[in-house]
Amino acid sequence: MRHIIAAVATLLAAWAIIYMVNLDKEVNKLDNVAKLIQSTAMEDSKIKVQTHTGATTTTPIQTDTTSEPPKKDEVEEKLKALKEKAGNIAAFETSALYKKNCASCHGNIGEGIIGTKLIGRDKAYILKALHDFKSGKRKNYVMYGLLGNLDEDQLEQLAEEISTFKEKLEKANSTN
Ligand code: HEC
Repeated sequence: MRHIIAAVATLLAAWAIIYMVNLDKEVNKLDNVAKLIQSTAMEDSKIKVQTHTGATTTTPIQTDTTSEPPKKDEVEEKLKALKEKAGNIAAFETSALYKKNCASCHGNIGEGIIGTKLIGRDKAYILKALHDFKSGKRKNYVMYGLLGNLDEDQLEQLAEEISTFKEKLEKANSTN
């Protein structure tokens, strides 16, 4: 049990570091950074609660004592999901344009953080969503504000790139 918790903690730490590196690139977007830190903190505490065993006081993860200890399966499932996530984050390279503007919210490979999961969306869908956000037809102040800085060419490039994420991820996973 204890090594499972230790593994979860290690994965979380690795995950956090990857996000921090990503965040570093976004120094001029303090707003995003604040939101992202908030959201990872929330995810951390959620996982801490879920991995609580109540069995020991030396557990490396400080826990919320009001929660029920989770079932073993549940922890294993979480761990598996985390492992997949950690592996997938570095599965393939994305463009500087995507990293700079989109990755902080939609994840390094479009897996979704604050923003929705983008993996698996086709180009037409993504481009339409970007146009609708930019014109205000689809109302989301975050996307609206962000897309004001990007021209049509860049939207097209991003839609094209994101539509290839699923294939790239599958390819990366099948060669592992
Ligand atoms: C600050 C956070 C943030 C950033 C940065 C961001 N997005 Fe979003 N994005 C969101 C949120 C939140 C939504 C969900 C909005 C909604 O559905 O109303 C969203 C929705 C979307 C959608 C629609 C997804 C769907 O399932 O319909 C697309 C496509 C998208 N974003 C692409 C991008 C691209 C491309 C970039 C980079 C140029 C980007 N986003 C940058 C937060 C962000």
